Amino acid sequence: MIYPAEELILRNRKRCTLRSAEPQDALKMLQYMKIMLGETPFLLRTPEEFDYTPEEEARILDGRKNDPRCLMLVAEMDGQIIASADVRSHGRKQRVLHRAELGISVRKDHWRQGIASALMERLIAFASQAGFEQIELTVESKNLRAIGLYLKYGFAVYGTRPHGMKYPDGSYDNDYLMVKMLQ
Ligand SMILES: CC(C)(COP(=O)(O)OP(=O)(O)OC[C@H]1O[C@@H](n2cnc3c(N)ncnc32)[C@H](O)[C@@H]1OP(=O)(O)O)[C@@H](O)C(=O)NCCC(=O)NCCS
Repeated sequence: MIYPAEELILRNRKRCTLRSAEPQDALKMLQYMKIMLGETPFLLRTPEEFDYTPEEEARILDGRKNDPRCLMLVAEMDGQIIASADVRSHGRKQRVLHRAELGISVRKDHWRQGIASALMERLIAFASQAGFEQIELTVESKNLRAIGLYLKYGFAVYGTRPHGMKYPDGSYDNDYLMVKMLQ
């Protein structure tokens, strides 16, 4: 799904552009993911595990752009991607077509500027218009920033997965499963 570019004014008065991710963003997106994944312990992958080639990444972005039931947005500032977020179908099987999944991240330098809120509002509006009935996500139970964001937008915890994440020191953290009903 293509989203027309718009300017967003941040809390610190800086400006960025919100727009659809394009296949031409492949290199910028790889760069973004490597840096962003190194800034948080709460996501599934380490930076090394985000190992798509630029061609593979371009194919993924092209698929997302051309999927009418997916919206993938990026925030761009000074030619660099500083945030990305997407909402898309849980799967293609008939019985799960009403369920969407959401993912979101922002570069640490730009946290608390309202970027995630702006992205969430657009993704939720899109998911409703696209006919999804619920949006689901998984969040690490110590990721209080993300949990705060999801609660702000009406997500509720419906379950806890014990030991969802295991860290190199052998410690574990639980995951929360969250859902926002759209109807
Ligand atoms: C979670 C994340 C996306 C928030 O992005 P952000 O742009 O800083 O968020 P915003 O400035 O729009 O804040 C949105 C809301 O999040 C919540 N929030 C943000 N920081 C918070 C904090 N330190 N503690 C509690 N809640 C917080 C608040 O509800 C806030 O709303 P408010 O500004 O009206 O108070 C960002 O910290 C991030 O990318 N983290 C690393 C990746 C990640 O964890 N992604 C989620 C994986 S499940």
